[in-house]
Order: sequence, then C-alpha cells, then structure tokens
Amino acid sequence: MSKMNYWTDKWDLHEDICPCDVHFNDWIAATGQRGKLIYHFGTGTHHVVGVEQAKNGTGNAVVAITASIEEYQAYIKLVTENAQVAKSYLAYFGDIYLTNPRLLPDFDIVTMVHLCEFFFPNTDSAEYGGLNDRQVLDLFTDKTRSGGHIVFYTKSMGAERTMQIIPEWEKAKPVERVGEFKTLLIYRKK
Ligand SMILES: C[S@@+](CC[C@H](N)C(=O)[O-])C[C@H]1O[C@@H](n2cnc3c(N)ncnc32)[C@H](O)[C@@H]1O
Repeated sequence: MSKMNYWTDKWDLHEDICPCDVHFNDWIAATGQRGKLIYHFGTGTHHVVGVEQAKNGTGNAVVAITASIEEYQAYIKLVTENAQVAKSYLAYFGDIYLTNPRLLPDFDIVTMVHLCEFFFPNTDSAEYGGLNDRQVLDLFTDKTRSGGHIVFYTKSMGAERTMQIIPEWEKAKPVERVGEFKTLLIYRKK
C-alpha cells in the first residue's frame, strides 16, 4: 500500500499572493450565481469559499478538497462551531489525483485553480494509481453540467502548464471560453 500524497503545509488567507478564492467569491457575486453546486480545489485553512457561500444568502452549496491535515482540522473546528456552515459546505481530505468519479455528484461550477501544482513524481505510477493533470481536468469537466462553468487561476504556480493543456482540452471537450475575471479564467460547458 502506498501512502497518500498529502500536502505537508497549510495555507492561510493571503489575498496579496493568492487571491483566487476571494476572486472566485467576487465572480459568484458579480454574475449572480444562485442555487449552484460548486466543487472547489483547495480549501485553505480559511475556507473562505465554503464560508462565504454558506453565509451570502445565494443558496449555493460547496464541496471542497484539501490535502492538508491542518486545513481539514480547521474545517472540523469550523463546522463544529457553525451548524449553518455545515449544512451547505462539505470539505473532505484527499488527493485530487485519486478522484473516483463514482464518489462525486455532477456540479454546476468547478474550480481547477490549483491544477498542475501538486503532481508528485509517483502520482500517475501504476502503484499509486493517480491521474495526471489532464485526466483530472477531463474528469471534472465531465462532472460539470451543461451550461455550468470551469474556473482556472491565471496566477497559479501551475498556470504555465495549465495554459499548455487548455488548447487540446478545448478541442476535445464541449467547452467555450467566456473570458477573464480578475485573476480567473472562466470557461462554460456547452
Ligand atoms: C496554496 S494553497 C491555496 C488555498 C486556497 N485556494 C487559497 O488560494 O487561499 C493550495 C491548496 O491546495 C490543496 N492541495 C494541495 N495538494 C492537493 C492535492 N493533491 N489534492 C487536493 N488538494 C490539494 C491544499 O490543501 C491547499 O488548500
């Protein structure tokens, strides 16, 4: 049995160096997204996407992944103290490269903001059994409902590699570029 490739760090809110979560909440507000089911890649210790969407009256619900033990512990503390947040925000601990599509529903909005950032040398080895970044993107594109959105982060550490993947992905999948919003790049599923 291999050990899971978890993240040995944790991430507090740094709007100056990593504003993607705040910009995502801004995009939700600016485009009036309501009653949506959102998948978010990378909770941070702060959980601002889940918390904001639980509190802003939109009726949006969020499922988010973290690979950090400290961030997951922060989620447990958060929902232990906030039943209303628990009702519409579910964070889980895992490696996104090990995603099993059978365990997830379809989503209206998917954030791929940290794509190409956390691929380990063994991630897609036969022994570990993980996906590569393109396969992660394809899986979550398939999980996005028609008319839904897929969101990238243009300032990500993995942005250069992500921008190399996007042209082939655009040809293979029924998606169209909507445009940029602050540091985000938005696509729509046809
Ligand atoms: C730099 S932090 C950014 C957190 C938050 N999105 C923000 O911008 O403030 C990267 C996030 O990706 C998550 N992460 C790292 N590797 C991951 C993996 N293999 N699978 C899922 N999430 C992962 C971390 O747990 C963390 O929440």
